[in-house]
Amino acid sequence: MSSAIREDIANPAEALLPEVLAFRKRFPIFKDKVHLANNAMGAVCDVMEQAHRDYLDDRINLGASWEVAIPKHEELRASFADFIGAKQNEIAIAYAATQALGTLTTCFDWKDKSSVVVDDFSFPSVAQLWHAQAQRGAKVRRVAEDENGLILPEYFDEHLDGDVKLASVAQVCYKNGHLLDVAEVGKRVHDAGALYVVDSYQGCGSREINVRDLDIDIMVAGTVKYMLGSPGVGFMYVKEELLDQLHPSVTGWFGQATPGAMYIDKHEEAPDAVKFQSGTPALSPVYDSLAGLELLKSIGIGKIETWINFMTARVMERLLEEGYVPATPTDPKYRSAQVAIKAKDGDAAVRELASKGITSTTRDNNVRTAWHFYNTPDDIEVLITTLNDIRHLMLTAD
Ligand SMILES: Cc1ncc(COP(=O)(O)O)c(C=O)c1O
Repeated sequence: MSSAIREDIANPAEALLPEVLAFRKRFPIFKDKVHLANNAMGAVCDVMEQAHRDYLDDRINLGASWEVAIPKHEELRASFADFIGAKQNEIAIAYAATQALGTLTTCFDWKDKSSVVVDDFSFPSVAQLWHAQAQRGAKVRRVAEDENGLILPEYFDEHLDGDVKLASVAQVCYKNGHLLDVAEVGKRVHDAGALYVVDSYQGCGSREINVRDLDIDIMVAGTVKYMLGSPGVGFMYVKEELLDQLHPSVTGWFGQATPGAMYIDKHEEAPDAVKFQSGTPALSPVYDSLAGLELLKSIGIGKIETWINFMTARVMERLLEEGYVPATPTDPKYRSAQVAIKAKDGDAAVRELASKGITSTTRDNNVRTAWHFYNTPDDIEVLITTLNDIRHLMLTAD
């Protein structure tokens, strides 16, 4: 057991350490770095490295490798569906989460209901997309954070009425790791008769998410962060019961009822979520992302979530002990895999951490760290020691 796990902390999650150490060996970056930039890009694993090569080998050996690449695309749809408690016919693969949502926006004319409710912890790309809908008649209503940096479900109430077409929320805030109570917000959105759109890009892969249990209508995510894949794969889940009502006007041959049918005289959308797809998929990231997701599933998301919760609780405790100021909520109810720390000069702090072998990122002048099943309690102590070396760049409680 790691020396950094203090004996006075008895936590059942500690029993996972041997498995964590074995998992960590599969990620080459840990040979000489402490990777904490998981909220930006997860670490590359051995199976993804191999999958990347397999893509090239298939191209080199087969020439046109469609016959193996397209089944992998379908396998990825099925695997992601299973991961979130959905069915394969409810999943579309796009090149980015925003692209998938952009296709969804073409289904709405904003005439019967014209408002969109967006929370202020939304990823800017998603918020920008909803604002762009103003050109087509939509009105955006914003749900703000309170003075404690929280967005509670009841803050949505004043924004929800019969004119709201949909509410679009981020499960986890990209800049401070705030975790929204997705289930509670969803009840309120549905009571108002609106569609519920959840961006789980910063959550999926780090915690269990079941779209049916949470009663989510539409969900997007991507594989490059916690799902151990590559940029170029964005997933969109669309609840089966909604598919008959949604008819995107952006399409392409991979969104048609019969992908191989090369008609030029008509448009026949696929009956399922495939209708939200467009042209040729990004095949290399499909190989990568399938390998990463399968590895993640082989561990089991329950264990991953347990370990991450243990680690982030410990990070918060150590930061507070050392007098640093987290930008992340202190109440574990509102916490995710990300722990952000307030800095005096976030850019300089991230540069200094990088020069000492710790990867992190900054937003809003916070140093963002994010924790996964391959991070250990020793990583926490390395972070704390290094922060102590650059204390002048960080905000402190004294
Ligand atoms: C919450 C959230 N949503 C979406 C994205 C990315 O979206 P896209 O795939 O459209 O680039 C990110 C990337 O950082 C994110 O943090």
